[in-house]
Amino acid sequence: MIDLHLIGIGTGNPDHLTRAAEAAMRAADLILLPRKRADTADLYNLRRALCDAVLTPNTRVVAFDLPVRDAAAGYLTGVRAWHAAIADAWATQIATHLPGGGRLALLVWGDPSLYDSTLRIAARLRAGGLELRVTVVPGITSLQALTAAHAIPLNDLGAPVLITTGRQLATRGWPTDATTVAVMLDGEGAFAKLDPTDTQIWWSAYLGMPQQALLAGPLAETGPAILARRSELRADHGWIMDCYLLRRTPA
Ligand SMILES: C[S@@+](CC[C@H](N)C(=O)[O-])C[C@H]1O[C@@H](n2cnc3c(N)ncnc32)[C@H](O)[C@@H]1O
Repeated sequence: MIDLHLIGIGTGNPDHLTRAAEAAMRAADLILLPRKRADTADLYNLRRALCDAVLTPNTRVVAFDLPVRDAAAGYLTGVRAWHAAIADAWATQIATHLPGGGRLALLVWGDPSLYDSTLRIAARLRAGGLELRVTVVPGITSLQALTAAHAIPLNDLGAPVLITTGRQLATRGWPTDATTVAVMLDGEGAFAKLDPTDTQIWWSAYLGMPQQALLAGPLAETGPAILARRSELRADHGWIMDCYLLRRTPA
């Protein structure tokens, strides 16, 4: 039996690691750390630094190469094939390092519930016959870090919030009936395609990290400033992670 703990670690600020997260890391027999492309080495290094800060030498920490998603396949087809490849990579690590079962931990960026597929990959392994019990330790999400950094509420008074991706915003436009839209996974700046009338934006990159950047204001003026800033930052650091909240005054 594999006792899998998916531990939300927040978005880059080591002080956001909860006591429950630290306890779950210490209790693990094995922590697997995914290593991605060279341009995201900062994220690998951050997870490694958390392990160094929290663990005693009793916990085994093993890095493994995360398979690369085939961007040429259609989006969902590519993602499903990628998840299958990651499940295979986990299975190989488990067979190698925990052949008799035990407690395995994965350090999940932010929280495992929000735009993260670790739970779906665990379900694949279970469906494939691995005896697996899953426990989630919640973490601070990028949206919580975003609203905290700008000191704003997520929702308008009594109003709903729609959380979506840059891809969805770019293809479908402003969602019907929503006054607040939170956007993640936006590599292109989908906000630039919207009608900016009566719309405010609160944007941040590298939340919780020393290089954190914030911009906020009316979309008409702030949108172009964000596009310029994010391309400077991407050039400086080699990678960027950002998210934003848009709010439209109801007509
Ligand atoms: C795969 S999702 C993971 C979200 C994560 N599970 C969470 O709880 O926030 C990655 C997206 O989250 C957002 N994100 C995560 N960490 C961030 C950070 N430190 N600063 C800004 N945005 C971040 C970005 O929109 C990024 O494209």
